[in-house]
Amino acid sequence: MNFFTVSAFVIYFTISAGESCTDITENLQYSCIGRNLSYIPPSIPSSIQTLDFSFNILKHLQKTVFPVLPFLRVLDLSRCQVKHIENDTFYNVKNLTTLILTGNPIRHFGPGFLNSLHNLQRLILVDVGLSSLQIQINNLTKLEELRVGTNNIQSMSLPPFMSIFKDFSLLDLHANNISIIKANHTVVFQEIGRNMTLILSRNPLLHIEPGAFKDIYLRELDIRSAFASSAAQKAGLQALHGLNVKRLKFGKYKDDYRIFSSDADYLDGLCFINFHEVYYYMKERYDVKINIFRCMINATIVAVKSGIIREIANLPFNEIKELYFISNQLDTVPGKQLSHLHTLEKLVFTNNVATQIPDFIDMPRLQYVDLSSNQITLTLCCSFFSGTPHLRYLNLSLNPQIGLSVGTFDGLDSLEILDFHCTKVVGMGHQSPFCNLKYLRYLDVSYSSVTFTNIYCFYGLSNLNILKIAGNNFQGDVERYLFNNLTLLEHLDMSYCRVVELHPNSFKNLQRLRLLNLRGNNLMTIDFLDLPDLKRLTSLYVDKNSITSIPLHVLQKLPTNLSEFDLSSNPIDCSCSQTDFILWIIQKQKVLKQPKNIFCKTLSPSSDFRATDFDIDSCVHKKRLTIVLSVCFVTVVVLLSFLVYRFQFYLQYCCILLRGYRSPGQQECSYDAFVIFSSYDEVWVMNELMENLENGVPPIQLCLHMRDFQAGKSIASNIIDEGIMGSRKIVVVVSQHFIESAWCRFEFELAQSRFMMERNANIIIIILEDVEEKKTKKVFGLHKHLKKNTYLKWSRDPLSNMRFWIRLRKAIIATNH
Ligand SMILES: *[C@@H]1O[C@H](CO)[C@@H](O)[C@H](O)[C@H]1NC(C)=O
Ligand SMILES: *[C@@H]1O[C@H](CO)[C@@H](O)[C@H](O)[C@H]1NC(C)=O
Ligand SMILES: *[C@@H]1O[C@H](CO)[C@@H](O)[C@H](O)[C@H]1NC(C)=O
Ligand SMILES: *[C@@H]1O[C@H](CO)[C@@H](O)[C@H](O)[C@H]1NC(C)=O
Ligand SMILES: *[C@@H]1O[C@H](CO)[C@@H](O)[C@H](O)[C@H]1NC(C)=O
Ligand SMILES: *[C@@H]1O[C@H](CO)[C@@H](O)[C@H](O)[C@H]1NC(C)=O
Ligand SMILES: *[C@@H]1O[C@H](CO)[C@@H](O)[C@H](O)[C@H]1NC(C)=O
Ligand SMILES: *[C@@H]1O[C@H](CO)[C@@H](O)[C@H](O)[C@H]1NC(C)=O
Ligand SMILES: *[C@@H]1O[C@H](CO)[C@@H](O)[C@H](O)[C@H]1NC(C)=O
Repeated sequence: MNFFTVSAFVIYFTISAGESCTDITENLQYSCIGRNLSYIPPSIPSSIQTLDFSFNILKHLQKTVFPVLPFLRVLDLSRCQVKHIENDTFYNVKNLTTLILTGNPIRHFGPGFLNSLHNLQRLILVDVGLSSLQIQINNLTKLEELRVGTNNIQSMSLPPFMSIFKDFSLLDLHANNISIIKANHTVVFQEIGRNMTLILSRNPLLHIEPGAFKDIYLRELDIRSAFASSAAQKAGLQALHGLNVKRLKFGKYKDDYRIFSSDADYLDGLCFINFHEVYYYMKERYDVKINIFRCMINATIVAVKSGIIREIANLPFNEIKELYFISNQLDTVPGKQLSHLHTLEKLVFTNNVATQIPDFIDMPRLQYVDLSSNQITLTLCCSFFSGTPHLRYLNLSLNPQIGLSVGTFDGLDSLEILDFHCTKVVGMGHQSPFCNLKYLRYLDVSYSSVTFTNIYCFYGLSNLNILKIAGNNFQGDVERYLFNNLTLLEHLDMSYCRVVELHPNSFKNLQRLRLLNLRGNNLMTIDFLDLPDLKRLTSLYVDKNSITSIPLHVLQKLPTNLSEFDLSSNPIDCSCSQTDFILWIIQKQKVLKQPKNIFCKTLSPSSDFRATDFDIDSCVHKKRLTIVLSVCFVTVVVLLSFLVYRFQFYLQYCCILLRGYRSPGQQECSYDAFVIFSSYDEVWVMNELMENLENGVPPIQLCLHMRDFQAGKSIASNIIDEGIMGSRKIVVVVSQHFIESAWCRFEFELAQSRFMMERNANIIIIILEDVEEKKTKKVFGLHKHLKKNTYLKWSRDPLSNMRFWIRLRKAIIATNH
């Protein structure tokens, strides 16, 4: 019973563990983050190089925990609730170069727990409850980085054997409990090479023994928020005398809200530290006016951040190359103080409140000026820079207003990068202020309230690679010519410019263009792409426009290397007439950015329907149905026309009958008999029938079609009106020809239908010549008629003829009433 429970549990666990780790790079990199695992899954291959096992449960680390993974280099065991690490734990993974044990509440370190890791370069023991740097890492001679921040270490003294660790270059002791540094704590640092970075930030330093760092060489020393009080910092800086450090970072972290009140000689200690670069994160309030730069005059890089500096007295820098004043609430750019600084190359004065730009005089090396995010309002730029002939970078973005005019950049011919974004730029749209900037590569005037009215606005920018004019306006069709000479342009941002239509010529000559951003305009089509000049395009953004469809011929000519095409947030017309386009969308989802955001235009804005979900098959069915229905319709129409044509006389007869029934008044009969005969038998009819009947006594009035039918009336009407309706009797002359004549048959049929109600005695049949019985069946009703009724037969014998005429005359004259 117990056995079963256990094995079931094991099986369950094996399966869930195999599934739970993610193979990030095939067989090399696995992630098991946060899977609540209590052992290393056996499914992990022995070829693995990186294993992220953080946020699992491995309370007790020992040799058997890890399978043999000879190629494992990086092992992350962050926050695995490790409490206990035994000797030789990492024996099976001895080739590790990086071991991360961050955030484990380790109570017991076996004295030899790192014994096997001869190749370890980075050891991260952040927040593991470490109370001393005296760890047994003797064998870790290749160690480069030791990060032991957020522990309870009280002394920065390193074990003596580390002085032979010749690659050791980083010791991070941030957020520990070091309050005192004595001279003998720094002995190992004297012996270690000159490439060390020492991080002591966020410690409660109270006292540094003066000279403890004398003659020590460091690459970087970070003592931000490292002192318990301002007095401790002042004394601490003095105690650092004799230290040589390339980069010194001091001051406070942003989130350190302790406000120190400082006196005049607060920073004097700096004069005795030998540094090249100094980063002062101020956050201090000075009760007195001091020159914070007094001890920095030999530095090459000086940065002052996040302080409140009332004024800058003078800046007698000797070798300064880069100067940063960031977020200091300064209201004046120190122009006079900076002028004549022959070594200065870079000036960054941002996030202050300066309103004007001073004249920069005699600064031959100045290349880079960033005055962004100030309160600068100028009616006319930029004569201030006449003393800086080598200026290559000028950033005036995020200021209220700057005026430009022709000649603005005279003397700044070397400019390569110019940024005015989010600054109202006055006077640009209708002039050509950039004529002389033949080296300019980058121009950003986005969201600068510019209305482009002059097609020569960018005249002279023959080297421009990147142009950003988002959020501005064009007057008329200026954009059609504006970019025409920018033949080296690779990146054009025209988003949110309220463009309704683009002429293909707008991008004429832009044969190098790779990125075109037209997001957020009002474009309905992208037919302008039908231009061979744009064949290099790789990225095209036309999202958030009014495009309903793209014709097939444009899709077929899209640039071959287009790899990013954003068409999302357009009102796509998802109807069956657009199946080609929608099919293209479905097939090109790899190229299209956010294909899931390509929605169909719908009547109700609340309902979202993705174009990729459109059912193209239903269109095929609809199309088929339409074709079938059309074919049926045409067939029916043709058939009906044929029938109408074929039976037009019957139809007319029906009409006439209906007419007759409507007015059933006694029909005046104008003739005694209507004769139906074939025109081949006309001779007999004229010579015999007419002769005998009309000239006999009493004369019988015959209706003969060639004589009595009214001219101008249709034959059918004549047959019906004159012949059948206008005669009392019908005489049918049956012969071979009669049977073959369609007209005769028709007349006979009509006649029968007239007398359907009456007796057939009104139809008198004369057999002129013998007709086979079979043939009589061809004429509807004739055969039946002959069988049922007596008929007259013509013969050439004169005696029988006498009888024939008498009987015929009788039959015609006889009335049925
Ligand atoms: C983690 O695993 C333990 C047993 O190893 C179990 O008791 C616990 O409920 C699991 N936690 C989660 C969130 O799955
Ligand atoms: C761990 O190794 C140390 C020597 O490096 C030894 O003194 C100690 O007894 C070992 N502990 C165990 C549990 O083996
Ligand atoms: C250093 O490694 C060797 C094996 O290579 C081992 O015998 C020795 O105990 C280790 N030294 C320490 C101090 O752990
Ligand atoms: C820091 O060290 C001091 C002694 O130097 C000690 O009194 C204090 O409790 C320590 N603080 C912490 C958080 O361990
Ligand atoms: C100094 O250390 C850095 C890493 O901190 C390293 O990239 C650089 O190569 C080292 N330089 C020398 C000369 O050792
Ligand atoms: C600057 O360097 C000069 C000579 O190299 C030296 O005399 C002077 O004391 C230094 N000043 C400071 C503040 O380091
Ligand atoms: C100009 O400064 C702004 C704000 O500091 C920054 O976002 C922008 O990237 C800078 N422009 C260039 C071209 O570096
Ligand atoms: C383009 O350059 C030519 C000469 O190189 C010039 O004639 C023409 O006016 C320029 N057009 C624009 C729009 O700048
Ligand atoms: C498309 O990319 C390939 C490879 O990157 C390149 O060789 C080819 O010239 C490009 N085609 C165009 C039209 O730019």
